[in-house]
Order: sequence, then structure tokens, then C-alpha cells
Amino acid sequence: MTDLNELSQKLASIRQDIETELKEIADSKGIYEYRKTIMDGKAGKIGSLMREMGKIPKDLKAEYGKRVNEIKNWAQDVFDRADEKLKEQEMERRYASEKIDITLPAKKFKKGNLHPNTQVRMQLADIFGSMGFQIYEGTEIETDYYNFTALNTPQDHPARDMQDTFYLGPEFLLRTQTSAGQVHVMENQKPPIKIISPGKVFRSDDDATHSPMFSQMEGLVVDKGITLCDLKGMLDVFVKKIFGEDTKTRLRPSYFPFTEPSVEVDVSCFQCHGKGCRLCKGTGWIEVLGAGVVNKKVLEGCGIDSDIYSGIAFGIGIERIAMLKYGINNIKLLFESDLRVLSQIDD
Ligand code: DAH
Repeated sequence: MTDLNELSQKLASIRQDIETELKEIADSKGIYEYRKTIMDGKAGKIGSLMREMGKIPKDLKAEYGKRVNEIKNWAQDVFDRADEKLKEQEMERRYASEKIDITLPAKKFKKGNLHPNTQVRMQLADIFGSMGFQIYEGTEIETDYYNFTALNTPQDHPARDMQDTFYLGPEFLLRTQTSAGQVHVMENQKPPIKIISPGKVFRSDDDATHSPMFSQMEGLVVDKGITLCDLKGMLDVFVKKIFGEDTKTRLRPSYFPFTEPSVEVDVSCFQCHGKGCRLCKGTGWIEVLGAGVVNKKVLEGCGIDSDIYSGIAFGIGIERIAMLKYGINNIKLLFESDLRVLSQIDD
């Protein structure tokens, strides 16, 4: 190369080549590679220009150097801009492909739930626990004495016919009621007493609403000055929490050997609100539990002075509450472990 004209032409054609070739490159990695070949000190179209300095006549060297530097700077700039543009496009493509729609509803994971019986038992334990009741767990095998005799139901008492008992021998049986636990507690603890006793009970009984094994929760309060009003107050709290705030209670006279007076507790029908429907058999009321003032004979039998202390007791059928609350019409559904039924009840 001997004159500037020739140099100008050469540089112009290099520029043109670069501009054309750059357009073909689609990603920043390509730019990187291309830049390397162009700027390569030995073979690069621009990188090799400086090596030719030796062949340049002395008087042109300065101008040559200046022009080469110019094209170098130009090329760096062009590569930088092309690189920036492509990187931006690549980012945008990535953003688009990795886009997450945060407004989509979350995927539902199937999680297990507690058995309806367990749910009700825990709800009852919470409700009575918040009123200061402690939990006493009795045993499923009982003696005839604790299940019946101590509860004012001696051998020949007609009330024994109310419950068909599974005897394990002359003395032992499967408890028919959690009431058996009352006697253990009163024998071992001095008043004030305030316990609930949940557990399984057994009776030879089997139809749509009865099962040979079911669950109850007994309640017992013994202290000075305890009356039926205390019972009503506590049960009011309980039914409102379980069936809804506008639920009312009604006490009807009844008979249990271990309470005097004895009552059946009804709640106002939470389905029709008293108008009368199938659930309440048109009466507006649903029977939920038995209760009463602890019979003085039972207190005395446990060594508690009935002139000083009085008590109230109640027995809740857990399955019955679950069936009413969740609209289950056959008690068997609670024992068949059919997840299609059980998974619907998650309270
Ligand atoms: N034990 C009774 C039953 O199984 C329910 C019951 C009624 C329990 C009255 C009580 C009570 O504590 O006072 O049918």
C-alpha cells in the first residue's frame, strides 16, 4: 500500500464487509466470535492492519496509524452496539418464554383431612377446654360396677335394658357409656371437678343410626352450688359453637338412673331454623344429648358429701353430632373409610 487513496478504499471495503456480515449474525455469541476473527492480530481484517505499518512509506505512517485507529474504534463501537441489541433481544425472548402469570389461581394440592369423628371430637375438646374442662380418658374394658352399679343401676335395675351389653365374663364388659369414667374421677379426685371424657363405647345395636361401636364424650362438673342452670349455660355455648350462633337449646324431662332430674337436650333445627323440615322431622327441634344433675346416690357412692357438693353431667354422641352437622344419614359411612365420603368433610 503506497498511497492514502488505496488505504481509504481498503478501509471502506472493510467497513462495508463488516456491516453486511454483521447483519447475518443472529446472536451475541456469534458477534463475539466474529469480533475475534476481525480483530485477530494475525489474520483479522482490522487486527492485521497494524502489522503492515512496516510497509508504509515513512511520510504516510502517521496518517495510516490514525486511520487504522479510527476504523478500530468504529468497529469496536459497531460490535458493542450489535452485541447490546442482540443481548437485549435475547433477554426479551427469555422473559417471554419464562413468563409466569401470577394472576393464575394456584394449583390445588390434594391433602388429607381428619376423620369427621376426629374433627368433632377435637372441636368438642376445644370448646369445653376453653371453659376449663380437663380430659380424662377411661378404659374400654370396664367392670360391671363402674359401668352400671356405681351409676345407680344395680343388677336387676330395669334401666340396664336400655343398653344391650357385651359381657366379657360375669364381672367385665365393654363399657356401654363413657359415664363409667365419672365414677373413677369422683373416686380419685376431690371437687371441684370439671372433666370431659371422650372414648369408644360398645352396644349390641346395629341399624342406620346405631353401630355396635361408637364414640361418646362425657362431661362432669362437681362443685359447691352447681345447678341445672350451669348445665344449660355450658350447653348453650357448646351448641352455638358447633351448630351456629343462632342455635337455641331446650331441656326436656327424661330418665337416667345416675341423674336426678334427668333431661334430654334438644337444639333448634339449624337447617330450617325451627320451621320444620325432614332433619327435625317437622318439629323444629333435634335431640342431641342426655344430661342431668348428678344423682346424690352416685355422689355419695364415690365418697362426695352431697349436702355440700352437687354436680351436673352430660353425655354427647360424637357420631350423632357429626351426622347432624355434616348431613350424614347413615352411621356406617363413618366407619367404612370410603375416602369419597370422608374427604368431603374438612371443617
Ligand atoms: N350415658 C348416657 C347414654 O349413653 C348419656 C348420658 C345421659 C350421660 C345423661 C350423662 C348424663 O352423663 O347425665 O345414653
